[in-house]
Amino acid sequence: MAFKVTVVGVGLVGETIVSCLKERHFPCEWPPRIAATRARSETMGNEVFGVEETSADVFRNADLVLFAGKEGARGASATWRETALQEGAFCIDNGRDFRLSPDVPLVVPEVNADALNAESRFIASPNCSTIQLVAALAPVHRAARIRRIIVAGYQSTSGWGLRGPEELRAQTPPALKSLDDIPYDPEVFPRPIAFNCIPQIEPFMDDDYTREELKLVYETRKILGDGDIQVSATCVRVPVFVGHGQAVWFETERPVSPDEVRGLMSDAAGVRVPDGPDLPYPTSLDVNRFPDDVLVGRIRRDISRENGIACWIVADNLRKGAALNVVQIAESLIQKGILKA
Ligand SMILES: NC(=O)c1ccc[n+]([C@@H]2O[C@H](COP(=O)([O-])OP(=O)(O)OC[C@H]3O[C@@H](n4cnc5c(N)ncnc54)[C@H](OP(=O)(O)O)[C@@H]3O)[C@@H](O)[C@H]2O)c1
Repeated sequence: MAFKVTVVGVGLVGETIVSCLKERHFPCEWPPRIAATRARSETMGNEVFGVEETSADVFRNADLVLFAGKEGARGASATWRETALQEGAFCIDNGRDFRLSPDVPLVVPEVNADALNAESRFIASPNCSTIQLVAALAPVHRAARIRRIIVAGYQSTSGWGLRGPEELRAQTPPALKSLDDIPYDPEVFPRPIAFNCIPQIEPFMDDDYTREELKLVYETRKILGDGDIQVSATCVRVPVFVGHGQAVWFETERPVSPDEVRGLMSDAAGVRVPDGPDLPYPTSLDVNRFPDDVLVGRIRRDISRENGIACWIVADNLRKGAALNVVQIAESLIQKGILKA
């Protein structure tokens, strides 16, 4: 059975969704329908795809709609979700608009595939930084109940979308000549990103946290099904193209040793704990070698807290942090017999 799939948005995430569908042999008609703000053709890999302007027509008879357009009131899923649902399609959304709605499952399949059911036809994929955090910590939470998480994110420019890496590329030659007055577009990053670290991702919200930081608080609680977990985050944009890093400190109810944590994480689906001499710990560049894994390293006792563990987590924000997770949600819908012919 080949499902009729529509992908809305063909930026960094939309393009990666198309390549994940293909490389995982997702059972869909090929090519999928692809829509964005305007019609054109786009070359992805060695294939040329027709891109349609998003209209009600692109959702007609769709079985599955994968939203990878921008967010907000005029964003893709806010504008087209009802149309897609009325066509009877299952929808999976990359954006933040509906993630915290009580009737919308927020899913990382390795962690909470049980949240998927036939009644919820609109499913949200979490923020990229939340996905890698919960994928690595869920097995420890199940075994020893995590009470508190402190996380410092070192987030790549592709997390912004297409214009993020473009800014880094454009700013690098002038920055190599002089670090004063690097030209930059404040619509993308609030300060120059070349050779810089910017401790602000998205606008400031409550209590002087940014929206990106609060996503880590509320999405983590929802996915782990535990509203009592205390989370405090600082998210920093760094001059990296792809691959978010996170320095994480967490405390458990039951004491766990670094070895037990290493074992729990190594056994978890989708998590890899490299510790050989060739790769003593993962870096952002290592996502090229392990594009589908959440990589964890530097697991050690937190000497400042009782029952505390510190570690370092890295993942490809475009794949496991977005496109791959979305395709895995769709695969789970099929495996559970929810999405069927
Ligand atoms: N980048 C990441 O690491 C990441 C991770 C997790 C989640 N996400 C989420 O994934 C979504 C896509 O992000 P991205 O990084 O791929 O952004 P992007 O590279 O800027 O691409 C955005 C795409 O959405 C299309 N689009 C925008 N508004 C639309 C609308 N109203 N209707 C239809 N199409 C629309 C754009 O069309 P045109 O091409 O015609 O301009 C473009 O193709 C966002 O919600 C983002 O928050 C991103």
